[in-house]
Amino acid sequence: MKEKNILIPGASGQIGEALALALAKDNTVTGMARFGSEAVRKRLENAGVRAVVRDLAADDLADLKDEYDVVFNQAVDWPGPPERGVDVPLAMNGYLQGRLMERCPSAIHIFGSTMSVPDNVPPLIDEETPTRRQSNTYSSTKLVGESLAVHLSRERGIKAAILRYMWPCGSRQLRVPYDALLGVVRQALQGDTFKLEPSLLCLPPDGLQTREISGSTPTPLHVDDGAALTIKAAAIAATPPEIIHVFGPQIPMSEALAEIASVFEVKVNTEIVEQSEKKLVACYNTAKMKRLLGEQTIPLRQILEQLRSYMQESGEVV
Ligand SMILES: NC(=O)c1ccc[n+]([C@@H]2O[C@H](COP(=O)([O-])OP(=O)(O)OC[C@H]3O[C@@H](n4cnc5c(N)ncnc54)[C@H](OP(=O)(O)O)[C@@H]3O)[C@@H](O)[C@H]2O)c1
Repeated sequence: MKEKNILIPGASGQIGEALALALAKDNTVTGMARFGSEAVRKRLENAGVRAVVRDLAADDLADLKDEYDVVFNQAVDWPGPPERGVDVPLAMNGYLQGRLMERCPSAIHIFGSTMSVPDNVPPLIDEETPTRRQSNTYSSTKLVGESLAVHLSRERGIKAAILRYMWPCGSRQLRVPYDALLGVVRQALQGDTFKLEPSLLCLPPDGLQTREISGSTPTPLHVDDGAALTIKAAAIAATPPEIIHVFGPQIPMSEALAEIASVFEVKVNTEIVEQSEKKLVACYNTAKMKRLLGEQTIPLRQILEQLRSYMQESGEVV
């Protein structure tokens, strides 16, 4: 993408920062967020990103002009305990997408969503397989954002795409729980024991064959891959939008832990928990993502090596 005028709400987040840095080389990029982290803001401004400080849940967007070619909405509110209520998550994860499309109808809109959105949870292996994901405030409010994206795309002819990310990780922000892989690494480093259930992983593309595995299956998506695939989504944006799951390789937890042990040179404690019946683990069909966006490229080992060097820089590991 070159010489475009781009708006990134949520530019200070994990994927948002990677996206802004990737786009700033050849485009005019405006990032919007509260910019709580001065370090992230400096990294972005040094790369040429215009940082606009805005509380996207509370402030109005009246000054937002219809001047952008592409709006990549990466802003998200993580709901927290139930007593916090739903107002802010709804405003951020839901209505914000509608407000952005109202204000900038000429732009292509790419909405960052989540694999946790429970409806239709593709790519489960078959329609009889019950969804593994329970609805919660996060997923329900993101579903509001998806619905607004679809509705406004249809009603106003706005080109859009909805990306449901899985397990973004590997950013230099080193923030748990948003970087799920970092959480696992920290648990391994502090000597926690991982309980792994023997399971049957269904194999794509049709899921009819299975492979015996230990533990669940992380799908680590490096934030730079997340950014690269998100940029490609602008080229396939349509009316109505496609919903695309964006994820990295599906790796059984036992194999992910073995890589962590090797890269961080630690002994990782695991315990196999026997159960009477092996759980069937859904496989993810990469066909749609590959067809529409291409394939991610950064393997787990490389993500972990980069994570280790960030952790060394910050003094967390030697
Ligand atoms: N991380 C995961 O495990 C995961 C998993 C699945 C899907 N996703 C999806 O991937 C996308 C990006 O996630 P991420 O992990 O990169 O998110 P993140 O690191 O938590 O970043 C969230 C962004 O939203 C901004 N934000 C939050 N509240 C705001 C407010 N009131 N006003 C203005 N800005 C606000 C934050 O900026 P400030 O704090 O500086 O305001 C930050 O830029 C989201 O759509 C998310 O739902 C993430």
